Amino acid sequence: MKENNGLNIILMGPPAAGKGTQSELIIEHYHIPHISTGDMFRAAISEKTPLGLKASEYINAGLLVPDEVTIGLVEERLGKEDCKEGFLLDGFPRTVPQAEALDSMLAKSGRQISAVIHMVADDEVLINRITSRRVCPNCGASYNVVTKKPQVENVCDACHHELIQRKDDTREAFQVRLDAYRAQTLPIAEHYGKQGLVSEVNALQSIDAVFSDVEKILDEVNG
Ligand code: AP5
Ligand code: MG
Repeated sequence: MKENNGLNIILMGPPAAGKGTQSELIIEHYHIPHISTGDMFRAAISEKTPLGLKASEYINAGLLVPDEVTIGLVEERLGKEDCKEGFLLDGFPRTVPQAEALDSMLAKSGRQISAVIHMVADDEVLINRITSRRVCPNCGASYNVVTKKPQVENVCDACHHELIQRKDDTREAFQVRLDAYRAQTLPIAEHYGKQGLVSEVNALQSIDAVFSDVEKILDEVNG
């Protein structure tokens, strides 16, 4: 890793691989900000901003939001002071043009990606995780009625708000999201693979076992 580069991580994987779940553990351990484009879009949708209005039709159908919208959003976020010492990107980049735009925006400030963690899982497990996921619309915390139950049924442990199911967590939207992942996002593993930056992690393991693998990779990169 370059001197003064910080820990600049990309977490990639299909829908429900556990990116959000692992992100919570990574940011707590490494003290870097969590940048989830999905969370940013969902916040804009609930605030009914122009960005939210533009993004909602794509998201609810399981389709990717256009690159020009997404790239601008991330460029603005990465320019903030709290990203200077590192960051965790969850769900971005999701297309090769997004990856190229990211590389050049980082190069402008003398930074580069430190590692890409690629979470790999079977479709059958993913669909089960999608349909049993519940999220907090207030603070964004993610739960699972099978594997990560809240202490009180349907209530967020952190902020006590009622939990909901995401609108794109239907079987139909899941299939569209999975197809988009295969066609548009998997090629970024090749893009960063050529730079020797990609490490695969078996996302079928328990949450703690996945984090233990992620930690080994990041500790090596972090020196
Ligand atoms: P986004 O929010 O990024 O959704 P996603 O990639 O489909 O991934 P998810 O958030 O559904 O899953 P996750 O991997 O975070 O899993 P989680 O940890 O919650 O994007 C949504 C939409 O926004 C896109 O479809 C697109 O429209 C738009 N968008 C976002 N970024 C974009 C971009 N860059 N360009 C264009 N459009 C963009 O876990 C899932 C469930 O499994 C939970 O219930 C969890 O508790 C459970 N679980 C997790 N890990 C485990 C485990 N190890 N064992 C058992 N259960 C587990
Ligand atoms: Mg997520």
